[in-house]
Amino acid sequence: MALSTKPIATKDRSNLIPFSSRLREGRALAQDVCVANLPADCINLGQGYMNFPPPQWVTAAAEEALRAVAPNHYSHPRGRIRLREALKGFYDPLFHRSLDVESEILVTSGANEGQYSVFTAFLEHGDEVIMFEPFFDQYLPSVTFNGGKPIYVPLHPPGGTQKGKDSSNDWTIDFDELRRAITPRTKMIIVNTPHNPVGKVFRKSELEVIAALAEEFNLLVMSDEVYDCLVFDGKEHVRIANLPGMWDRTVTVGSAGKAFAATGWRVGWLIGPPSIIQPTLAATTRIVFCTNSPLQEAAAAGLEQARERKFFETQRDEYAERRAVLTDTFDKLGLRYTMPEGSYFILLDISNVEFPEDYPFPPSVLGRGRDFRACWFIALEVGVSSIPVSEFYCEDHANIGEAYARFAFCKDLATLRKAAERFQKLKKYIK
Ligand SMILES: Cc1ncc(COP(=O)(O)O)c(C=O)c1O
Repeated sequence: MALSTKPIATKDRSNLIPFSSRLREGRALAQDVCVANLPADCINLGQGYMNFPPPQWVTAAAEEALRAVAPNHYSHPRGRIRLREALKGFYDPLFHRSLDVESEILVTSGANEGQYSVFTAFLEHGDEVIMFEPFFDQYLPSVTFNGGKPIYVPLHPPGGTQKGKDSSNDWTIDFDELRRAITPRTKMIIVNTPHNPVGKVFRKSELEVIAALAEEFNLLVMSDEVYDCLVFDGKEHVRIANLPGMWDRTVTVGSAGKAFAATGWRVGWLIGPPSIIQPTLAATTRIVFCTNSPLQEAAAAGLEQARERKFFETQRDEYAERRAVLTDTFDKLGLRYTMPEGSYFILLDISNVEFPEDYPFPPSVLGRGRDFRACWFIALEVGVSSIPVSEFYCEDHANIGEAYARFAFCKDLATLRKAAERFQKLKKYIK
C-alpha cells in the first residue's frame, strides 16, 4: 500500500502531547527572567557559579583519571571507594565518629540529585516537608516531583529602616510559627546552613530547638551544608547531626561543586545513618545509577590533600576578600545589605533604589514583584545582574523577598572590582 503524501493536518502540532502538571506545580517552567535577554556585557552576579577554575592540583587528578581505564566506566552506585575513603578521612573528625564507607556515605550527582533521591526514598504522597524561606529553588520541584508538599516557614528579616549593614544572623526563626507549621503529615525539615541566599550560619541554640522539634514529631532532618567550607569571621559551623540524638534522623548534604569551584562536575555526597543512606542508595541507583567516575577521582584527590594544603582556609580568605569588594561598595553608596557570615551571596536591600515605573520593562518582569523590576533596572542601567529574592519565596510570602536582590561573589576579584565601578552609576537612583 502506498503511503499517503497528504499533509497530516493543518492544526497546530506544536503541543500535541500535554506535559505533566507536576512541572507547573514544581514551578519548573518558570523562566530565568534575570538571565534571559540581558545585554551580553552585563556582569553576571546573579547565578551562583564561579568564573574561575578549580585548583590546578584537582583538575590534574581529573586528567589523570581520564587517562586510566577504570574511572572511565561505571562506578559503584555508592560512589568510588577512593572518594568514599576521602570523605571518611575528611569528615570523621567533623562528625566525631568513624564513618562506615559502605553504609554511611553515598556519592551523588551533585548535592541536588542526592537531595532528590532522599525525597524519592522517603516521601509518600502528601507528606509535608518544611523549608525555611528564602529557600534554594531546587527544593520545591524536588519535593513536589516526589509527591511531597512544601510547607514554608519564613526567616524573618531584620526590621528597621536604618542604612548600613545587617548581619545574616539578624534573620531569625519564629519558633512558634515553626511549631505551628508541623502537622501529622510532616515528614521532613530542611535546614540549610550556611544559608543560600541569606548567608546565615545557624547558631547552635537555633539548631537545638529544631532538633527538639524533630525529636518530638519524629522528623527526618535534611541538613544542606554545601557551603560548610565557607564560613567567615571566625563563626562556627554547627552540624545538627552532631547534636545529641540527631545522628539517627539527619542526612547531611555536601557538594564538590562548592568545595572545589567545580559546579559543573556534578559530584556531591550524603552522610548519615544506614537507615537513611540505604533507602536513598536504592533511589539514586534507579535515577542515575552512578555519578560520573573520573570527577569522583578528582574530588577524592581534593579532599585527600585539602588539609595539608590548607586549601579551605585559603579559599575562605579569598572569598572574604571578594565579599569585601561588594560590601565596601555598598557601604560607600550608603546601601543597606545583609553581611553574610557564610556562603557566597549578599542580599542588597533595594527598597531605596528608585527607578522610573514607566521604564521599558519586558512583560516577563512586569508581571512579578518590585524586586524583579529593580533587578532588571540595575542590570540594564548599571550593567550588573542579580537575582530577585521573591523568587525564593512562596506566593504568600513573596512580599518579604521583594525588598532584596541577591548578588553572588563567587567571581574573580577583577570582575567584582569592575562591578564595583559600575555600581557608581546607581548613586543617582538611591533615595
Ligand atoms: C543551598 C544549596 N544546596 C544545594 C545546591 C546544589 O549543589 P550541587 O551543585 O552540588 O547540586 C546549591 C547550589 O547552588 C545550593 O545553593
